[in-house]
Amino acid sequence: MTVEAETIVEPTPNGPLMVYGNVLVKDSKGTLTKKSNATAFCRCGASNNKPFCDGSHRKIGFQG
Ligand code: FES
Repeated sequence: MTVEAETIVEPTPNGPLMVYGNVLVKDSKGTLTKKSNATAFCRCGASNNKPFCDGSHRKIGFQG
């Protein structure tokens, strides 16, 4: 698998891991989803839409 675009990865304070750029996300079944521009990945563990952030970090008061 080749990813041609450069990406920027930024952990946001008390929030998600932001990935800027074009990425392919592979789920546990091997399905690939193409994401572009900005993608927020959950780092608090509370999202109901893992691996993506759904804003639940605010509800649980995630710090990190
Ligand atoms: S970081 Fe946003 S829901 Fe987990």
